[in-house]
Amino acid sequence: MGHSISEKRKYAVINTEQAKNIVRQYLEDQLFDLQDISFGLPEIFDRYHVWNVPVLYKKEAIGEIVVNAYTKDIDTKLSSDLRVLNCRRDKIDTGKTVSVKKYKKKKEKYKISALNNMLLKGRSEKVLTQLPEQSIDMIFTSPPYYNARKQYSEYDTYDDYLALLRKVIKECRRVLIDGKFFIMNSSHVLIPRTSRSESSSRIAVPFDIHQIFMEEGFEFIDDIIWEKPEGAGWASGRGRRFSADRNLMQYKAVPVTEYVMVYRKKPAILIDHFIRNHPDPAIIRDSKIADGYEKTNVWHISPARDKRHPAVFPKELAEKVIQYYSFKNDVILDPFGGIGTTAKAAVNLNRRFVSIECSDEYIQYSKEELNAANNLIHPFQYEFKDYSKLPDDIENTEYDLHELIRVLKRMDIPKEEITQLIIKTYQDKLAEYKEHIYEHF
Ligand SMILES: C[S@@+](CC[C@H](N)C(=O)[O-])C[C@H]1O[C@@H](n2cnc3c(N)ncnc32)[C@H](O)[C@@H]1O
Repeated sequence: MGHSISEKRKYAVINTEQAKNIVRQYLEDQLFDLQDISFGLPEIFDRYHVWNVPVLYKKEAIGEIVVNAYTKDIDTKLSSDLRVLNCRRDKIDTGKTVSVKKYKKKKEKYKISALNNMLLKGRSEKVLTQLPEQSIDMIFTSPPYYNARKQYSEYDTYDDYLALLRKVIKECRRVLIDGKFFIMNSSHVLIPRTSRSESSSRIAVPFDIHQIFMEEGFEFIDDIIWEKPEGAGWASGRGRRFSADRNLMQYKAVPVTEYVMVYRKKPAILIDHFIRNHPDPAIIRDSKIADGYEKTNVWHISPARDKRHPAVFPKELAEKVIQYYSFKNDVILDPFGGIGTTAKAAVNLNRRFVSIECSDEYIQYSKEELNAANNLIHPFQYEFKDYSKLPDDIENTEYDLHELIRVLKRMDIPKEEITQLIIKTYQDKLAEYKEHIYEHF
């Protein structure tokens, strides 16, 4: 079965032998002792385009290593920690359990991305699966707007909207290098009243997105407030009524701010590692920030307006973020690239870019913008790829179960509570999944 799915999906890893060989090579590269190690039958989870390869020691399962079926990379987030494998191996030999902490983590090597400039057409939640793990140095984006009015919205419910963002954030985490930054610009959504007898309401979108970042393995670093001039807020209509009537409790603040939320991918790696171990000290020197930088978390920037796109952010904002959180020559990703503001800012600051956008129209504008920058700023090349025809995902409950347990474990939820939750969620499949559940504890 694995074979036909692999062929249909045009995977790079098409059979179990290949998957095992990739894992064997990975363990060897990580200096993992292969004595008495063998592999169980690899399974393909085609919803996430991965092969799951069980690792056995003296024929007993000690964990699993997950391989990206498209890129052949190891998905370290989904794979068992090598220290845990060592720990379980020792337990089989000695019968004693030793704390994982005893096993030292390997010293991190500085990762340099091999990616070239890319403009990619397609839906980010799918396109991102095509990028190698840990190939991006920094992410800056502003997600699509959630429109509460059904007729203008492409999402059935607000939960659907958040589910899409979660998928993108999850994939972004995979492609981002450990310890590097993901900066997200967003703002609360105003839901206008539908009749005079109703009042308008608001959805605190950035706070819900924050929760997703926390659950998906990011560390919260900063909330930067982007403040626009006062006039920019009156267009929303909020605060107008109070301005006229001045009745108490009808006070509504005119919104002139957006959030620029800063997160860092866990595991936390000392920033010092990136500075000390960078292979080119000249880049570190050249990337230093000059005087006149933003000292507080309130940045005053005028909004941008563009006839071609209703929701562009100002180039000044993208340039500040890129300068503060990346080095020259780094790869900057924008998964909701619009007309390419982030990509252009990256070129301007001698960084590389990956810009993903699903609308054909905005892709065309991005090309125009990049071609103009090519003449105005400095010559550069970029690759364009159309990924808009990638196949849809297939449901896979079993994979979801593994994912759920891993997320809960990362959140430090006690084992008993996780077990209760799993029993509740997977009542009817419990017998079938018993083995999978045991694997995690
Ligand atoms: C807020 S705009 C970003 C604008 C961008 N910052 C700029 O300055 O041009 C969000 C963009 O995401 C795009 N988009 C929406 N859903 C997407 C998806 N699933 N994958 C890729 N792009 C998507 C929209 O077409 C829109 O251009």
